Amino acid sequence: MAAPNNSPIITTHTCSFASHAIMNKLISIISFFLLLSPFFAMSNTFFGAENTEGIKYDLFPEILKKEAVTRLNELGKVSDANGYLERTFQSPASIKAGNLLRAWMEDAGLKTWVDQMGNVHGRAEGINPSEKALLIGSHLDTVIDAGFFDGSLGIICAISALKALNTSGRLGKLQRPVEVIAFCDEEGVRFQSTFLGSAAIAGILPVSALQVHDKNGVTVQGALRANSIETTEENLLQLKYEAESVWGYVEVHIEQGPVLENVGLPLGSVKGIAGQTRLKVTVKGTQGHAGTVPMNMRQDPMVAAAELIVFLESLCKQPDYYLSYDGQCASSTVKSLAGSLVCTVGEISTWPSASNVIPGQVTFTVDVRAMDDTGREAIIYEFSNRLYHMCDRRSVFCNVERKHDANAVVCDPGLSTELKSASYAALKRITGEDPGDVPVLMSGAGHDAMAMSHLTNVGMLFVRCRGGISHSPAEHVSDDDVWAAGMAVLAFLETLL
Ligand code: GLV
Ligand code: MN
Ligand code: MN
Repeated sequence: MAAPNNSPIITTHTCSFASHAIMNKLISIISFFLLLSPFFAMSNTFFGAENTEGIKYDLFPEILKKEAVTRLNELGKVSDANGYLERTFQSPASIKAGNLLRAWMEDAGLKTWVDQMGNVHGRAEGINPSEKALLIGSHLDTVIDAGFFDGSLGIICAISALKALNTSGRLGKLQRPVEVIAFCDEEGVRFQSTFLGSAAIAGILPVSALQVHDKNGVTVQGALRANSIETTEENLLQLKYEAESVWGYVEVHIEQGPVLENVGLPLGSVKGIAGQTRLKVTVKGTQGHAGTVPMNMRQDPMVAAAELIVFLESLCKQPDYYLSYDGQCASSTVKSLAGSLVCTVGEISTWPSASNVIPGQVTFTVDVRAMDDTGREAIIYEFSNRLYHMCDRRSVFCNVERKHDANAVVCDPGLSTELKSASYAALKRITGEDPGDVPVLMSGAGHDAMAMSHLTNVGMLFVRCRGGISHSPAEHVSDDDVWAAGMAVLAFLETLL
């Protein structure tokens, strides 16, 4: 566009003076706004964001982000080991973590207690204490050399969301009780059991579980007693919640896989969890001198174990080859296995474990997961069957113990839809933008929700983690994603107001 005729003609001197004056004014105006800009930037923080319909929401960054992240870091340092994170059932660090969580639950306005299995509970009764309760939980135990988020994230997000409700005077207005549960044992590291706490509450833990022992011969009952928790068979049975008293169970968890990172979204709703079986395989041979026993006269359990482990890998890489060959499975089962079957040997030990001794015994664990329960059974059957043949051929004695079984779980479609909507709302509140469709995922990892599905409907929310890495100190969830997860729980709880 041509300049209008009356435009001032800016010539060098005077105008440069004039432009300096204007510039100075401009600079002071800009500085004024720059000074205020943190205030404007933080105005969302203080006053909440406004959505397109003009509704203002509190975003609670101090609670849902800053404090939640600080607490996750604090919890991540509560470890039984020096230099890495490890918290197992009823260990000193687990007790310390439980005490911290209990204090944070109380800080959120919840009534707290620890039950006979060491689960930590915090409950808000709302206006109808006799209504069915919403349970929200995850686990406080960890694997060995764990990250800070597996389990802890779900507990902290729930506590933070309830604290945000309390801070805004709404905790007492919940239409039904809401209870947070920090479960004592999801990883099963100490007793190879998994879900000791959630299974007790769901009423599916056999009383014989009290007598299962760890590597040092300490039983579950003994571990509880060492922390002054007297658990008899009778009071273990009393831990079961009545199905009529529970409305549903919700669990927030890091995804532990790469899908959300790939699609570029912080949250996803879970539609199902793969079933899993854990085995302990014992191979016994003849212990002997590494220098004197000729190769063809050995019954070496180590090489037998190696052969079995390699066979397991082939079986799980090509289930169609092994299973259809034996005609054990319908073709749909075999097909579904091909998409979800994963098998792992994560732990192996030998006796006496010396470089100049042919071992007398080798034990190793087997972890098998699949979405199809029939297919998983077929894999266990095929593995065990071939294992005994291989052991016979090598003249070693083999034994397979089933340590843990959990069938695949389908999340409740209603809860999943609500969690999807809550995630959408949370992301929109925080960013002010349409986040797009919240993804729906499958879970290959096991969760307390599996045990809780025997009691009530379950729903799960996954939170993006960096590189999809979990069960590793490299596990990481960004501060903003912690915030988004807490906000999603809050948006979900607001549907109960
Ligand atoms: C728990 O993290 C599991 O899936 O093993
Ligand atoms: Mn885990
Ligand atoms: Mn977990």
